Amino acid sequence: MEYSEKVMDHFANPRNVGEIENADGVGEVGNPKCGDIMKMYLKIDKGVITDVKFKTFGCGAAIATSSMATELVKGKTIEDALKITNKAVMEALDGLPPVKVHCSVLAEQAVKAALSDYYTKRGIDPTPIVGKLEDDCHGECAHNLH
Ligand code: FES
Repeated sequence: MEYSEKVMDHFANPRNVGEIENADGVGEVGNPKCGDIMKMYLKIDKGVITDVKFKTFGCGAAIATSSMATELVKGKTIEDALKITNKAVMEALDGLPPVKVHCSVLAEQAVKAALSDYYTKRGIDPTPIVGKLEDDCHGECAHNLH
């Protein structure tokens, strides 16, 4: 399996690893098939993501995509962060092997789960803003893992 240099770099030196105490939003997502888990912490000030950290117990691609996702959302408004899809994460990493596409979905969902938590904590229904979180992976898992 061929990984891009960027994937290898983010796997070997993941950015923003750790936790944020008193985070404004925390999201945890898991891939039920491979058992990998990703946890994302966000600090949000006036609608801007000022800090982000993550912990991923998963494959190399899951670590690389969560690292890249944190880099992409850092400093962004919530609105802009919500536009970051797993495809954007993959493009920023110069691509992923097809069997690893679902790992990037986990990264997208982790950001969304953390933002949902942020709204829920404020008594706001996150669904109209963040959308429905997927338990599954855009059907990718359907042929890869099921
Ligand atoms: Fe489970 Fe990559 S996230 S194999």
